[in-house]
Amino acid sequence: MNQHLPLAPADWQPGDWRRAPAAQQPAYADVTALEAVEARLRDAAPVIALAEAQQLAHAIAEVAAGKRFLLQGGDCAENFDDAIGMRVANLARLFDAMAAPIEARTERPVLRVARIAGQFAKPRSAPTETRGAASLPAYRGDIINGQGFSGPERAAEPTRMIQAHIQSVGTAATLAAARHGQPPIYTSHEALLLPYEEALTRRDSDGRWWATSGHFLWLGDRTRQLDGAHVAYLSGIANPIGIKCGPSLDPEALPALLDRLDPGRTPGRITLIVRLGADEVEAKLPPLLAAAGNRGAAWIVDPMHGNTEKVEGRKLRRYDRILAEARAFFRLAREAGIVPGGVHLEMSPDAVTECLGGGGPEGVADLGRAYRTACDPRLNGDQALQLVTDLESSL
Ligand code: PEP
Ligand code: CO
Repeated sequence: MNQHLPLAPADWQPGDWRRAPAAQQPAYADVTALEAVEARLRDAAPVIALAEAQQLAHAIAEVAAGKRFLLQGGDCAENFDDAIGMRVANLARLFDAMAAPIEARTERPVLRVARIAGQFAKPRSAPTETRGAASLPAYRGDIINGQGFSGPERAAEPTRMIQAHIQSVGTAATLAAARHGQPPIYTSHEALLLPYEEALTRRDSDGRWWATSGHFLWLGDRTRQLDGAHVAYLSGIANPIGIKCGPSLDPEALPALLDRLDPGRTPGRITLIVRLGADEVEAKLPPLLAAAGNRGAAWIVDPMHGNTEKVEGRKLRRYDRILAEARAFFRLAREAGIVPGGVHLEMSPDAVTECLGGGGPEGVADLGRAYRTACDPRLNGDQALQLVTDLESSL
């Protein structure tokens, strides 16, 4: 399976990923049902307009050049029971509130990109979850299976892709309407569930292929194998893309990954999203910056995913570690002569209690009050605002 060779862009097809090993994919029991869903999605409406994805790429080129600041954030995972109108309005308000101190400090306009309108599929560290004597497939996000701990809920159900698509179209339209006359908020998600991404890929009149599932798609830390299916898919689409850079990323492997995903070194094509953790960032970021620094990619920090702990069976993140990694990122990038371009956060405008400190819950016992995330702990609105305030002197 590893004989997958890079294809000339002219030959690339949205289904090429099928010839490469695909990590983190669900096992669909009913292949006929899966194919019926794929056929429906191939004829379905795009979630985003291609011209907007192109605009976003131009704006990200300005992030790399130090002329804009990229603020990317939102839920770890969206859910089918999300109250769309309220969520969009509240998240938009949070973006604007966070942008104000950043713009005042940096004099750079804030480019807003939400984890929304497609952020439904989750990579998991373990394929199964065990409770007592029972083991079931892990929850992989509402686009794949259900959170309830029962066999039927945890079975991968292809029609969930249809529901995710309908919700994404509605969310993107709500977001666009809410931003009428204001700086846009672009959509983004992890390009994880490849049958869904393939089916929503469309060709423009210039012959370029685009993911229409979102403006910006990122490659997750668990799916960035050079010869893997996710890289094969993302190599062919023209959207701006992100690459999560976790502690296992070998600096010597980074140039080949960038060559594969961005052979033309197109400005705005690549955003490197550093998520090394507060403990590892000092040692591991400088070699990554040196390996990729002069290629014109944008660099931002995700100080969430490298700082996750498990306490009493529940995931938590500490504000102080989030702040420490973010501060280190800005300092180390500057020391390397590279523009630190922004931040990527898991955050909710709601008063959730999922991360400790920063004005939020003080102790583990306080987390239970409003621990509502479907996957990872998010900063609440106050903590997210506190973070950009505490970061001001580093920006
Ligand atoms: C995420 O952004 O939700 C995520 C799973 O990130 P990573 O791939 O960096 O772990
Ligand atoms: Co997450």
